[in-house]
Amino acid sequence: MRIPIIAGNWKMHKTMEEAVQFVRQIREDIKNTDREVVLCVPYTSLAAVKKEIEGTNIKLAAQNLHWEDYGAFTGEISPLMLKEIGIDYCIIGHSERRQYFNETDQTVNKKVHTALNHGIRPIVCVGETLEQRERGATQDWIKTQVIQALKGVNALQIKDIVLAYEPIWAIGTGETATPEQANEVIAWIRKNIQEIFGVSAAETIRIQYGGSVKPENISAIMAQKDIDGVLIGGASLKPDDFIQMVNF
Ligand code: 13P
Repeated sequence: MRIPIIAGNWKMHKTMEEAVQFVRQIREDIKNTDREVVLCVPYTSLAAVKKEIEGTNIKLAAQNLHWEDYGAFTGEISPLMLKEIGIDYCIIGHSERRQYFNETDQTVNKKVHTALNHGIRPIVCVGETLEQRERGATQDWIKTQVIQALKGVNALQIKDIVLAYEPIWAIGTGETATPEQANEVIAWIRKNIQEIFGVSAAETIRIQYGGSVKPENISAIMAQKDIDGVLIGGASLKPDDFIQMVNF
């Protein structure tokens, strides 16, 4: 049984004060869910949010990490620093990081290993551009991204990894992949996981969909057989919408 995972990726939104207020507004209304709820918050709010979620079933995630434990990397945050705060998950390889901050399949892979070595569960993002989709290159591209991201990972580590399929053309555009389109790619990812890591790994790994998920479309997306959760951007910033999506 794969436990559904509903994650909000706040990206570069919310001050510490706003983050704390958000948690106070949602805590009570989502306490009876049997879904796993994860908040992916900016570094500056991690410690404050950690305190606010104490005693709740909400999990905490960072949005990035460096692959080294320490060193001369001005502006970067190490896994040790995040571990100390007590994060559960970390997003790795979000398309915005690949696009604007030069993340590559190689750095994504290093970060996946770093996270696993520190007991932080990676949420690894993959996704194609509209141009790639239109010329029929989606499957090959996604397969390459998954293989590269998980290079050197063993079958036992798979249970600690979450994959997120986020088609770039559906992020922040209001244009959602249809539930069938999302499921098709996610089933393809699972098929590849099975080929590389075996049946049990493929049945265990949770794969999310992300890209313009909102209260109106979440149930159709989650009804798909291979979709185990969602990674929500914009709509996760509003407490009422987020509560609705956790409890859909
Ligand atoms: P939106 O939900 O705003 O499209 O963002 C999706 C996303 O990038 C989540 O990581």
